[in-house]
Amino acid sequence: MTPSSRRAVLAGLPALAAIALSRPAWAQAPAAAPSGPHSLPPLPYAPSANEPHIDAQTMEIHHGRHHQAYVTALNNALKDHGQLAALPLHELLAKLDEVPESIRTTVRNNAGGHANHSMFWPVMGGRGGMPSGELAEAVNRDLGGFDRMKTEFNAAGAGRFGSGWVFVTVARDGKLALTTRPNQDTPLMDGQRVLFGNDVWEHAYYLKYQNRRPEYLNAWWNVVNWDRVAERYAAAKAGTLGV
Ligand SMILES: [Fe+2]
Repeated sequence: MTPSSRRAVLAGLPALAAIALSRPAWAQAPAAAPSGPHSLPPLPYAPSANEPHIDAQTMEIHHGRHHQAYVTALNNALKDHGQLAALPLHELLAKLDEVPESIRTTVRNNAGGHANHSMFWPVMGGRGGMPSGELAEAVNRDLGGFDRMKTEFNAAGAGRFGSGWVFVTVARDGKLALTTRPNQDTPLMDGQRVLFGNDVWEHAYYLKYQNRRPEYLNAWWNVVNWDRVAERYAAAKAGTLGV
């Protein structure tokens, strides 16, 4: 920060404090959050939008604290690495072997966390149901139909030991596949694209479901926004899908 920008920030402190006090606690970024190339995308609906299946407090903490923490840590790791900081997130994750070893694990965990959660929010906020059209045809063709996909997705999520994610990936030709990853790893690290996925870290469900991860996995389908997933499917086939 330059001296003049520091003065500007200091001069604005009373106003900033007033703004911060007027915002809900979950929406306040950590005080030490640095500016950087990556930022927290806004939640595309109210935190209560996924009630009763996912409670508002879980959404607030998950988005405003957990996702923000990944963004903050990623920006911190990249602050002296301008070329890496300039890469789109999916390209950074596909080039982890080019990231200096001193920051590689930090970038892997936090770029992965940022990418996974940036995918996660938009594919929720819906009313569940089933995919339609071309996407439904792909589910039938590649995953044995909606019911089988749901059963196998839930089993894969329940079987993911510890923390991680369960995903449906989409290839450029539209082919779908079911997979899981530990921690904040993502198929983007293998140059693949994610159609949709569910977070099976305890922070995603513990307030409401405690240790009942299978119950959370089953309930999650009630909030999937298939319109957004269909948009991701079209973008993947067009080669424009990022994270
Ligand atoms: Fe999460």
